[in-house]
Amino acid sequence: MRKVFYALIILELLSLNVSHVTFTNLKCGTYNRKVAEFQKCYIKAVNRTHKYVDVYMKVNQIPLDNITLNLKVMRYDQGYKPFFIDITFDGCQFLKSQKNPIIKFFYEVYKDNSNINHTCPINHDIIVDHVWTGNIEAGISKYVPVINGDYSIETIFYSNKRRFGFVNAYVRLSGRPKDI
Ligand SMILES: *[C@@H]1O[C@H](CO)[C@@H](O)[C@H](O)[C@H]1NC(C)=O
Ligand SMILES: *[C@@H]1O[C@H](CO)[C@@H](O)[C@H](O)[C@H]1NC(C)=O
Ligand SMILES: *[C@@H]1O[C@H](CO)[C@@H](O)[C@H](O)[C@H]1NC(C)=O
Repeated sequence: MRKVFYALIILELLSLNVSHVTFTNLKCGTYNRKVAEFQKCYIKAVNRTHKYVDVYMKVNQIPLDNITLNLKVMRYDQGYKPFFIDITFDGCQFLKSQKNPIIKFFYEVYKDNSNINHTCPINHDIIVDHVWTGNIEAGISKYVPVINGDYSIETIFYSNKRRFGFVNAYVRLSGRPKDI
């Protein structure tokens, strides 16, 4: 049932297009420093057209072998409201199977620039190094329905079911549907 649901969303989203996606902000935070804390978390503009994202999560509780993630897309409408995607999943299981297409899409955005490119346990700090946002911007427009506005892509991390951190990315969509 879930699979059918995701497949429907993807079909629907693939049929739409946007002309412009801009990254506006990135926020990271910790709920439990004993597990992890962020030493870097920013979008840096190199010039008018190019930006990159750097994240460095110092892992204080090694190894991490029981990770749950909650991934949500929210749309701004007098506050950020839930929008289509709200998935909670076992991070270690995902790294092993890489089955869920929506999670895989988000994972592939940063995988090549990250040291989270192996299965659990995670026994080192987590680095996302210089992900050029142009790639993310082009990629997201394939999956997110084109209603102009401000969106957040929010991820909460849990270790043994207790939340320890979050990463929120904020984007602005401006464009119009191709064939409607
Ligand atoms: C902006 O910086 C990027 C990365 O260094 C470079 O490839 C690109 O040509 C630059 N663009 C402009 C307009 O200077
Ligand atoms: C994972 O990333 C690290 C750091 O970038 C790299 O040294 C390593 O070769 C990568 N491993 C795989 C399996 O891609
Ligand atoms: C992860 O930790 C929780 C809470 O301790 C436990 O209930 C769950 O079974 C663990 N999951 C795995 C895959 O070990």
